[in-house]
Amino acid sequence: MTQVKSICCIGAGYVGGPTCAVIAYKCPEIKVTIVDVNEARIAAWNSDELPIYEPGLEEIVMACRDKNLFFSTEVDQAIDQADLIFVSVNTPTKRAGVGAGRAADLAYVESATRRIAQVAKSSKIVVEKSTVPCRTAESMRAILEANATTDLHFDILSNPEFLAEGTAIQDLLKPDRVLIGSMQTPEGICAQQALAQVYTHWVPQERVITTNLWSSELSKLAANAMLAQRISSVNALSAICEATGADVDEVAFACGRDSRLGSKFLKASVGFGGSCFQKDILNLVYLAEQMNLPEVAAYWYQVILMNEHQKKRFVSNILSTLFNTITNKKICVLGFAFKKDTGDTRESAAITVVKDLLQEQARVVIYDPKVADEQIWMDVSEPGVLDNRAMVGKQLTICKDAYEAAKDADAVVILTEWDEFKTLDYQRIYQDMNKPAFLFDGRLMLDMPKLKAIGFKTQAIGKPC
Ligand code: NAD
Ligand code: UDX
Repeated sequence: MTQVKSICCIGAGYVGGPTCAVIAYKCPEIKVTIVDVNEARIAAWNSDELPIYEPGLEEIVMACRDKNLFFSTEVDQAIDQADLIFVSVNTPTKRAGVGAGRAADLAYVESATRRIAQVAKSSKIVVEKSTVPCRTAESMRAILEANATTDLHFDILSNPEFLAEGTAIQDLLKPDRVLIGSMQTPEGICAQQALAQVYTHWVPQERVITTNLWSSELSKLAANAMLAQRISSVNALSAICEATGADVDEVAFACGRDSRLGSKFLKASVGFGGSCFQKDILNLVYLAEQMNLPEVAAYWYQVILMNEHQKKRFVSNILSTLFNTITNKKICVLGFAFKKDTGDTRESAAITVVKDLLQEQARVVIYDPKVADEQIWMDVSEPGVLDNRAMVGKQLTICKDAYEAAKDADAVVILTEWDEFKTLDYQRIYQDMNKPAFLFDGRLMLDMPKLKAIGFKTQAIGKPC
């Protein structure tokens, strides 16, 4: 069996960076080089301020950087030197052309694969780490095989990543499972074992699952679709709770105690965000449509529609509670990231909510402990949605502190469940706000009776008024 001695990871993003840093940390005898075409990103990985925030990441990177972990823009050189290459590039939803708004844009995967085919002078195991539509490995194999010779052989594996942002390092150190799909040929199985051996440096053997390539690719889309479906299900129930007087936390708890359902991923919220759920469900929807399975496509698409509905419903509740107008009212938004413990805002529910508040002519003040100001500006002043940054600038302010953000506000709106929001001095916030002082909890994280006792007019998703 091939013993992996040198790994190259193409793509130094949220997945490639942490995943390969953990491999380097756990496998000191393997040289790991993470490459990217984005020079600024690589420079940041080589600096004291890493390009992404993940609890525990810095310690891992600092422990092995420049020992057996390297970050570089020398893509060709790293490919040439590696036995095993992870392709961990972005696979966003296509914006134009056939399948726009649904299908994954595989241009980056193809470009990385072509680069490997052009540069490789020795046999390689090429690993699909990016989330891709089922059967993408076939196209990658076609490109690689067209460049193979009797001395130059390529094996292709699918090894989707299941880490969640904010808990990436813990997820990587203690994964529920590692999934490795391969061609069911002797060479394919041999390559599968070589990668399995990398992971079994720290992952128990029984957690390393091996399947065929297509099952592995589809399992990733399926897992994300099912996780998102649970959130849309509990969010749909939250609307019924509000209408009936049931409490969504109590309903979720009661349902979750059924061991067949399990208690995780049943937290009602303003809506799921993140770079994966929507993109991967759209991918699955497109796949079903392509296979002429419209009912299957419609089934999964409903998960996204429910998520959109939840965000709109939240804003509409704010509007009706604030006497049907928020024009010129100051709304303090606490949290902009798509979840706590990350500075990532991709598909964050906060983007939709803030844009809707701005459309209603509110003055919006945002505080988030980790999201960069520039990122917020880019997210809310997207061309075509709201005219331009100058216009948005008249209504939007970004603060460095929750108290400053809430001063003179008509309402506080919680959009990300940052732990620090639990321990704010709400008495002080209340005193500094306009009265009546409204508080909308989009994350079900605050002690509502306590806030009511202070004087707030409170509303939380799925809770009786
Ligand atoms: P990302 O955008 O953070 O990083 C991708 C990187 O690839 C970018 O820095 C880009 O410059 C680089 N790149 C693109 N083409 C390249 C090329 N030809 N050569 C060198 N570098 C190239 O993306 P990400 O969040 O790390 O996601 C990567 C993949 O992993 C996606 O398919 C995603 O769906 C999947 N995934 C993401 C997560 C997550 O939490 N973000 C979790 C599981 C799986
Ligand atoms: C997700 C998957 O969990 C992970 O396995 C995959 O590899 C990438 O996509 P991520 O998007 O990083 O990870 O975060 P996740 O914890 O899944 O949360 C996604 C969104 O759902 C967040 O906006 C979160 O706040 C929301 N969520 C999560 C809820 O609203 N309720 C829940 O019960 C759980």
